[in-house]
Amino acid sequence: MERETFSEVLINWYHIKKRDLPWRKTKSPYQIWLSEVILQQTRVAQGLPYYEKFVENFPTIIDLAAADEQEVLRLWQGLGYYSRARNMHATAKIIVENFDGKFPNTYVDLLKLKGIGPYTAAAIASFAFDEKVAVVDGNVYRVLARVFGVETDISSHEAKKIFSELANNLISEESPSVYNQAIMEFGAIHCTPANPDCMFCVFADSCEANAKGKQAILPIKSKK
Ligand code: ADE
Repeated sequence: MERETFSEVLINWYHIKKRDLPWRKTKSPYQIWLSEVILQQTRVAQGLPYYEKFVENFPTIIDLAAADEQEVLRLWQGLGYYSRARNMHATAKIIVENFDGKFPNTYVDLLKLKGIGPYTAAAIASFAFDEKVAVVDGNVYRVLARVFGVETDISSHEAKKIFSELANNLISEESPSVYNQAIMEFGAIHCTPANPDCMFCVFADSCEANAKGKQAILPIKSKK
């Protein structure tokens, strides 16, 4: 499949099927960061009320940085992985103190922050600043492995590089941010780990996994 075709079909699907989620309506790097940190280990339905509570209590990074750590942890209660909240609080203080409250605005600079890895840096850089850098997470591995028939073991050393190159090759020139939201949404609600609805899929005719009946084995993951 042509790379333009993949991103156009995906984006068209997204415009019709996407869920209405609050972090998709903001360009605030802080609010986008918050949503991505919450969603790292938490499902959308569970994370949503926490996101809203945080935005209400700490609408800007200045508010979060000024907050008491106990208050931050109290709001986080029930989400688990408390280091996420502690790292975020510490990073908020660094951004306020060292960067005058201005969020770093490129992928490379975002990566330098504590608790911000390649996935989160790509999400913030694309969603908030429209940088053309592809997100690569479990959803992306699954969609690309199936549609393009990539049989690289996703727990292997080279997987990250292979999938990241493919994703950065496919990302839309005009709408990198929409493209990134779209591929994650497609993985989350259509190209699901179990029982994907391949009969009614926009890639039914072009998906390698569908052609070969390999949906259940792709992506390949040898180690848990
Ligand atoms: N999971 C992680 N990031 C997400 C996002 N931006 N939208 C929906 N689900 C997500």
